Amino acid sequence: MFDFRYYTPTKVVFGRNTESQVADLIREAGGTKVLIHYGGGSVVRSGLLQKVTDCLNAAGIPHVSLGGAVPNPRLGLVLEGIELCRREKVDFLLAVGGGSCIDSAKAIGYGVTNEGDVWDFYDYRRKATACLPLGVILTIAATGSEMSDSSVITREEGLIKRGYSSDLGRPRFAIMNPELTMTLPDYQTACGCADIMMHTMERYFTNGGNMEITDSIAEGLLRTVMANAEILVRDPRNYDARAEIMWAGSLSHNGLTGCGNDGGDWMTHKLEHELGGLYDVAHGAGLTALWGSWARYVYQNCLPRFKKYALRVMGVEDLGTDEEIALKGIEATEDFFRRIHMPTNLRELGVNATEEDLITMAHKCAVGVKGAKGSARLLREEDMLAILKASM
Ligand code: NZQ
Ligand code: ZN
Repeated sequence: MFDFRYYTPTKVVFGRNTESQVADLIREAGGTKVLIHYGGGSVVRSGLLQKVTDCLNAAGIPHVSLGGAVPNPRLGLVLEGIELCRREKVDFLLAVGGGSCIDSAKAIGYGVTNEGDVWDFYDYRRKATACLPLGVILTIAATGSEMSDSSVITREEGLIKRGYSSDLGRPRFAIMNPELTMTLPDYQTACGCADIMMHTMERYFTNGGNMEITDSIAEGLLRTVMANAEILVRDPRNYDARAEIMWAGSLSHNGLTGCGNDGGDWMTHKLEHELGGLYDVAHGAGLTALWGSWARYVYQNCLPRFKKYALRVMGVEDLGTDEEIALKGIEATEDFFRRIHMPTNLRELGVNATEEDLITMAHKCAVGVKGAKGSARLLREEDMLAILKASM
């Protein structure tokens, strides 16, 4: 077991109608002029944006708004947001939506409070020294960005998708009303469930410093997400299932499922970020399309973990060799992805990549991780290419 720091400063306000507390929460956090940041319009159609602006108006909190954060959010809009915040003297950011608008808001927060090009942080050239305070009203359970230290942005030039992590960007509060996720298309609900699982799995399949308490939390979380994701396939308006998944999404990526280990593997995520950058696919679907190929490539180097996962998460019988059990666990995971209508290879994802595209993605990924990365198995550019080819 490794030493660790666990820091989750985000105040969580969970349950029905909790969005009506937004003005009080902004006040508590010291906000006096707010930028409301949102996505492509789902919050306009659902009436949530109107409800939020009504709350701020009633509380006398001045605000401006900026919509348009797209899935795989773009640097261009971040720059626009930075300009707007400076011009309007905004001192608090409110993201109303999913991971894309939260991440975009975090980037705006770094840009407003630090001189120079905000992309420097995402390009690992320097570290941010501040961020505007940020609050979230979450409308999709998926990335965990509502409690996480990460923000993932795509630069249009070169279609480069990169993440930046800093405790400074962790939201001050996260309002989570499971009912707000009921307007989601089924595909996005499933993508979110897949992403939540992957945030825990990235931390589970490691070769360093595992802890039983962390494993038990992770395994329980994975079983809970799977059971409730299947309920939502049949019954998308099931409040309890949406609530279980929403809370799991936050716990999956706020550090809890990684305490004591070596920080996680993260190579499925790194490869997916290349897919997202180049083909603009939904993040969760990109992950499931790659995971099986990654798992089969690395499982022998992390066999005890794959066996434990097969037995304790996927319910595989303890019969046969460790390798056979591990492989059954991988197959059972892919079967689950299919049951929630998620792709298990790039073709099912709708990506018809050429050999040249695969080479480009492997190269960009290797550059992004500075040569090699992975805890289940350390992967270099040639390994990344092999996994991408296997996922076709
Ligand atoms: O843009 P709108 O119109 O709001 O529509 C969105 C979008 O089309 C829609 N949606 C969200 N809530 C809805 C809804 N539609 C109807 N009803 C609702 N209640 O769903 C679509 C997806 O939204 P998005 O915010 O893109 O989804 P998600 O939360 O999955 O975010 C994905 C982004 O986050 C990054 C991903 O790479 C991707 O760019 N990630 C961020 C992480 C973090 N910050 O910690 C970690 C993750 O691993 C991930 O990389
Ligand atoms: Zn993710």
